[in-house]
Amino acid sequence: MSELYSNKKILAPMVRAGRTPLRLLCLKYGADLCYTEEIVDKKLIESTRVINDALGTIDYRNGDDIILRLAPEEKGRCILQIGTNSGEKAAKIAEIVGDDVAGIDVNMGCPKPFSIHCGMGAALLTQTEKIIDILKSLKAAAKVPVTCKIRVLDNPEDTLKLVREIEKCGVSALGVHGRRRDERQPDQCRIEEIREVSRTITTIPIIANGFSGEIEQFSDIEKWRSATETSSIMIARKALSTPSIFREDGVLDKFEDIENFLELACQYDESYTMTKYVVQRILGSDQEHDPRGKATVAAGSVLQICKAFGKEEVFNKWNEDRKKKQSKKRARVDD
Ligand code: FNR
Repeated sequence: MSELYSNKKILAPMVRAGRTPLRLLCLKYGADLCYTEEIVDKKLIESTRVINDALGTIDYRNGDDIILRLAPEEKGRCILQIGTNSGEKAAKIAEIVGDDVAGIDVNMGCPKPFSIHCGMGAALLTQTEKIIDILKSLKAAAKVPVTCKIRVLDNPEDTLKLVREIEKCGVSALGVHGRRRDERQPDQCRIEEIREVSRTITTIPIIANGFSGEIEQFSDIEKWRSATETSSIMIARKALSTPSIFREDGVLDKFEDIENFLELACQYDESYTMTKYVVQRILGSDQEHDPRGKATVAAGSVLQICKAFGKEEVFNKWNEDRKKKQSKKRARVDD
């Protein structure tokens, strides 16, 4: 089970961004695994699993909200990340998703007040008993490998104590973001502390994370893997601003990344807000300087975003395709 995480380049979990189109785009470019955005346990538990014939996807939905949409191309390569503070709820999720996903990861690094106040994310880092309960309950219920993603603790010795306990829970890999709970982007990623984790935990792959500021090209990914002596590297911010960072043949022009992203957003019927968010993150300062950027900022629908990039026909094609499939299905039901 650990092989799934060995020697891999991974799209990190990112709320709002790590949804079907960006995950598929990164896989298409060369990422080996992709994580979903963090999904809070309650949301998944309250969702309904639906086979979406028009898209060919498995959807977990709550009314009109798509909580999780899994495309066939990501089968075996998509890790569900959950936010939880309860072994019982985590186990329930494992039962619900079965093997729709390739693995289940628990977020133990999010420092945002929302997570911390609910006892999730980085709040777990100082509650070893709770971590053990969550991971063991999840392991007992899951059909797929279980992992977690942590931040380093304020005292490196405490980090090593914690990761030894996590290893004993039978996880298949461990993600380590080399920043402390109160550290943010301009703070240096703590390479030595990740390396110490990797030297301490030798039975499972360690996934290093926190280098987006230092990754400019594909070869940099290997540089950081080697510097941290870890098995795998996980990338968040760089993959959001430049998804083609996963291309061995080099990054693409940002507008090509956006066009490729929009094709998948149209194909998988992504919502306006999520589509706009990712396009704006890829655009960066071009939101103010480029006419396509300005048109994106002003856009009020996926169609308008597509128009800004000459992708109107792509939008219409997938829209028509969905309608045809839906009416065929209705006709079959009426028969
Ligand atoms: C994140 N991060 C994050 N982490 C996590 O475990 N679950 C999540 O849902 C999110 N969401 C999220 C959204 C966005 C927009 C960003 C930029 C980041 C943290 C992320 O996975 C990663 O740990 C850090 O960004 C450090 O890695 P990079 O950016 O240096 O590659």
